[in-house]
Parts: sequence; structure tokens; C-alpha cells
Amino acid sequence: MNRVTTESIASTAILVVMVFLFSWRSIEAANVSYDHRSLTIGNRRQLIISAAIHYPRSVPAMWPSLVQTAKEGGCNAIESYVFWNGHEPSPGKYYFGGRYNIVKFIKIVQQAGMHMILRIGPFVAAEWNYGGVPVWLHYVPGTVFRADNEPWKHYMESFTTYIVNLLKQEKLFAPQGGPIILSQVENEYGYYEKDYGEGGKRYAQWSASMAVSQNIGVPWMMCQQWDAPPTVISTCNGFYCDQFTPNTPDKPKIWTENWPGWFKTFGGRDPHRPAEDVAYSVARFFGKGGSVHNYYMYHGGTNFGRTSGGPFITTSYDYEAPIDEYGLPRLPKWGHLKDLHKAIMLSENLLISGEHQNFTLGHSLEADVYTDSSGTCAAFLSNLDDKNDKAVMFRNTSYHLPAWSVSILPDCKTEVFNTAKVTSKSSKVEMLPEDLKSSSGLKWEVFSEKPGIWGAADFVKNELVDHINTTKDTTDYLWYTTSITVSENEAFLKKGSSPVLFIESKGHTLHVFINKEYLGTATGNGTHVPFKLKKPVALKAGENNIDLLSMTVGLANAGSFYEWVGAGLTSVSIKGFNKGTLNLTNSKWSYKLGVEGEHLELFKPGNSGAVKWTVTTKPPKKQPLTWYKVVIEPPSGSEPVGLDMISMGKGMAWLNGEEIGRYWPRIARKNSPNDECVKECDYRGKFMPDKCLTGCGEPSQRWYHVPRSWFKSSGNELVIFEEKGGNPMKIKLSKRKVSVV
Ligand code: GAL
Repeated sequence: MNRVTTESIASTAILVVMVFLFSWRSIEAANVSYDHRSLTIGNRRQLIISAAIHYPRSVPAMWPSLVQTAKEGGCNAIESYVFWNGHEPSPGKYYFGGRYNIVKFIKIVQQAGMHMILRIGPFVAAEWNYGGVPVWLHYVPGTVFRADNEPWKHYMESFTTYIVNLLKQEKLFAPQGGPIILSQVENEYGYYEKDYGEGGKRYAQWSASMAVSQNIGVPWMMCQQWDAPPTVISTCNGFYCDQFTPNTPDKPKIWTENWPGWFKTFGGRDPHRPAEDVAYSVARFFGKGGSVHNYYMYHGGTNFGRTSGGPFITTSYDYEAPIDEYGLPRLPKWGHLKDLHKAIMLSENLLISGEHQNFTLGHSLEADVYTDSSGTCAAFLSNLDDKNDKAVMFRNTSYHLPAWSVSILPDCKTEVFNTAKVTSKSSKVEMLPEDLKSSSGLKWEVFSEKPGIWGAADFVKNELVDHINTTKDTTDYLWYTTSITVSENEAFLKKGSSPVLFIESKGHTLHVFINKEYLGTATGNGTHVPFKLKKPVALKAGENNIDLLSMTVGLANAGSFYEWVGAGLTSVSIKGFNKGTLNLTNSKWSYKLGVEGEHLELFKPGNSGAVKWTVTTKPPKKQPLTWYKVVIEPPSGSEPVGLDMISMGKGMAWLNGEEIGRYWPRIARKNSPNDECVKECDYRGKFMPDKCLTGCGEPSQRWYHVPRSWFKSSGNELVIFEEKGGNPMKIKLSKRKVSVV
């Protein structure tokens, strides 16, 4: 059975590629306009079912099949944000290589015969580091992000214009024959506008007119922007948008973000939004006259390297989306939504051009009926009751409507789809472990860093500095080091008792080393980032070293003035001396940015000569601040691959110099007694991210996606930097096997 299904998945993959090759067609130049019902592309009104796939969250080798899987799932458009900090790493220096090859990505969408929706932002939120804005911009004097000030407006406009010109040059906008039919400026500014005062309003207006002045020939939108000027379309984001009305009556109803799942944090539980509820929300939207709908995300993918926002957003951005992180359709969600899309599209013309009537069929029961002059008719029958199934009479026929469901009758008679009746197949997902292998036997090379300053200190100060202002996010790591002299007369030395170290930090995480020994870790969590550490310390007479490794785990990506949120230590003291508490906050602190191996780029193939590695077949366990390097063969087969890091502590990993990202198999824990996990999830009733959580007591993220295209046929260099200690002998490459059941 399993073998058969694996083979059938392989042949489906071949088919997907063939369909892709043959479905190439160029889209004709088409002007895009709109009225109160829908977009008009060329001369045709169209319903748009769009799939968000963020290009830097996968690799170019995956793009064609991701786009094709979205198309097979019944989507006719792909949506992505544009990721400013990936494209402009330093002012005026642009990058469009590798995962950031946006032109290549859009051309793949075009070749698949799909439309493209481009959300330029360039502020994007998106659980992406710093909301997509380059960190350097925060340090341009006078800049306040998303507000009415010259530096922000200058850099934001320059970038937007650069992108628009690039895409115009490549003829990617619909009037040029390209796939882009819609664009977005800013992102959900309406939530924050009031915090920015009168200037906020001015900025919103300015960004809309700046966008419109770009003359791209396709409409611009702003999501969740209630006072959006009439030159742009205000759109809706959320779990449900059936009640949404746009900013002016001549605008179509656009749902820019329907969240079919949710994101995850290190230490957080697994969100789950049932397919029935996602389908319900989509059917309600189209039933109520919505005409552009986008799944955020349809493929969430991976926050490779240090791209995740936060703090604490996991490296995986799976999002429980219809296509999973590894690029495989998630069943039954993908299949159920595919069936839904088919049912909706049967009535496309009526939905956008027919006459709409809404009436009640009884308590919590509604009919949305579309008719035209020729007598054709389509109906969406909804049961809004979140507990009781209902029988309804519609046009002399009785229909059974499960609680919280919508039935679609494309001829006002035949129920072709009900959102709560899932007929799609399900799947079983396994991560099949495979030991690391090498043709000449596994040889580990090990390099351990010493806690504290390596080389010379970067600077010395009699205070605790802000972490982010110091590193400017060039690294996660910042060493705060000092030393104290303990007199032989201290009573605790004689009594054998231990003084207590007390540290306060704005976040995000901290490893403590006393006299070059690892003492412990303290960390904030997803909702409360500042933290305190209180731990007994064994001090000796004479000099004692205190080396504190403060870490960021993804910078804040949303909220008013989010770019000013700091991180790092704010107070350090030790209690239990003869004279009481020793306050070290204003002691002499020596600082060092980054860890040594990072500075020497030990993760880059060929850079190994920079330090002296120790070769061993058995690498040490539980050793902090250690680099591991091992040459491996690619895993067998062709399934997608995840690095199993369950045996490790926290750190970063690379394959052949490509950044896999941060790993941290941190256990999903309860922060309050209400933080439960569910055994069964009831799809009925309004969904919230904490409604159907699972994974209590398990690592939030155990496997880390390593794209197949990163492997060479042999001699692959896997490099790991482990901060606190773990057991590298147990690291495995697991193959993701999905069997249809
Ligand atoms: C929205 C935002 C998206 C993303 C989403 C949650 O409010 O626009 O960028 O952050 O929330 O995944």
C-alpha cells in the first residue's frame, strides 16, 4: 500500500511537471479595471482565487511545482509580498539573486498561465524580520517607519519605484502582457494610523498617491485601511470577511488575507484551522459577492537563515497551509478547497454579473441567490448555527445543512458541495529518519569557542547597552562580559552557600557562563519577551568571570513604532555578599558582537582553515559554543528532507554554505493554566488561533527543511553551531513521506 502510494506520488510529480511544460502560454496585454462587482481583466469580469506563496520562503527549484500545485488546487492567481530587506541589504545596493529572484518567480507564474498579485508594501509584517524593512533605515537620522517624515518617505518611495521600474522593464504588468493584475502599497496601516497622530493620516494619503503616481496600469489596494482614498481599494484581512464592505461603493470586495492556519513560535503549540471552517469562510465570502480572495498562506514555507520575524517565530513557516512547508499538498485541506474552488467557479459569471438576493430561510439560515435574465440561477445556502444541523426548504426541495456550513447549488437545485462534508482524501505524514552517511565513514570535525570575548573587545562601557542598537542585527549574538573579585573573607565561601545571580533583560534569550562554565539559559516567550534570571552561582575567591551571551531570535515585525523595541540586558546583580547585594549594572562591561566562528564564516565551504578543528568519529556531547562539521551523502530517494534536531539545544545550521536557519527544539509549554491542547477539534464556530492547539510537551519545531536542491551528489558539508550543548551523534536527515489514505 505504502509503496504504491509513494509511486503514485512520484508519478503525480512527473505529471505536474509535464502539465507545467505544456500549459505555458503568454497572457495577452490586458488593462485591469474594476467596478463594484469585480476586477475586469481585458474585457472580462473575473473571480480571483489567489494563493500566497512568498518567493524567499522556498527555493527557485521548488517554484514551478509550488505554482503548479496551486493551479491544480483550483487557484488562478499567486500573491506575494516584496521583501525589501532581502532586496536592498544596504542603501542603494540591490540584490535579486537566488531566493530573491522576484522576476524569475513572476515569470514562472506567468508561464503557468496564472495571474499575479504583488503586495509591494514595502512594510509587510508577515512574521518576517523587522517587517521586511531594512534595519539600516532605522539608523538613518530622523527616520520613523511608516510615518510622515522625509527619510522614511524617501527610502520607501525609492524602493517602490525601483521595483516597479524593474517589473515594467520585464513587461510583467498586465497592460504590458504580464501577469500582475493588482498591487498593494502599505499593509494594514488602519490598525496603527491613530497612534501616528495627524501625521499618520497624512502618510496614509501620501503613500496612496505615491503608489498611484507609479502608473502601473493596474489597480492599487491598501488592506485594512478604512479611510483609504478613493484612488485605491481598501481590502479585508482576517479569518472571515463576509461582512466586509469596501471604502467606496464602486469598489469590489477583496479579501487579501484569509488565514487558513497560523504561524508558530519557538515554545508555542501547533495551530490548526480545520478545512471545513476555511471552506466555510471562503464560501460565505463569495456567496456575499466577494470577488477577489487570497489565501495567506497557500504555501507558508521556511524562514531560512535569520529571516524570521518575531521574536521567536519558528524557522518553519508551514502555517498549516494547503501546501505544506515541504511543498506537498496537505490533505484533506488542499483537496477540500480544490473541490470548493471548482464548485464556486461553476457559477463564476452569475456571481459577478447576476442579480444578487439575500433572504432568510429560518433562524440562522440564509440564502444568497444569483440569477440572470436568461433564468440561470445559483445559490449558496448557509447554516450559521454553530451547534445544530438543520433541514431547510429551498425552492420546494429539502436540504440538509450541517451546523456552520454552506452548500453550493450552481443550478439552484443540485448541491455540488457542502463546506462541512469533506470528501477529499486525507494523508498520513511521516518523517522517516535516515542516519547521516558518508562514503568514507562519518568524520566529525569540532571547534569549540571559549565563552566571552574572543580577540579584542569591540568596546567597553560602564553600562548595559541595548542589544539591537549595538549589533544592528548583523548577528543574533552579543557578549556582555565583566569580572568581579571575591575576597577570601566572604562568608558564603566558608559556609559553602551560593550567592544568587539576578539578571533582567528586555529579551530575547540569554546563556550565562560563570568562570567559563555554562550555567544556564533564560528566555522570554512569544507573548512576554522581557525576562528575569535568578540562579545560584558558585563563585571562588579571587577573580571570577561573568560572560553573558545575549541573543535576538528574529526582530519585531509589526505594531506601532515596532522598530524602537529594544532587546538585551538591563540589570545584573549578585545577592549574598557580606555587604549585601553587588550591583553590576554600571560595572565595566566589555562587549563583543557575534561569535567567533560566525565572524570567520566557518559555515562557508572552504573556510575551514580559519581555525583548528579536531577530527573525531565521536563528537562531544553537551558541549556549549561548539561548531560541528561533517561531510555527508544526500539522503536516498527524492522526498523532501528535514534535519532532525531533537537531540540538540539551540543554534544555527548550514548545508554547503546555504543557511538552513535557527534551530531550537524548544518544548511547547504552558504559560498559563489556560494553555491547553485539544484532543479533538470542533470545526464549528468562529476560529481563533488558540482554538485547536496541539503539541503540548513536544518541541515546537523538531525538523528543519533542507531543500533537495542544496544537496550535491556527494561531499555535502553540514555545519552546525550549537550554543548550549546537545548530542550531534543523534542528528538525522528525515525524509517526508506522505501517503494518501
Ligand atoms: C496580518 C499581516 C500579515 C501576517 C498576518 C499573520 O495582519 O498583514 O503580514 O503578519 O497578519 O500571519
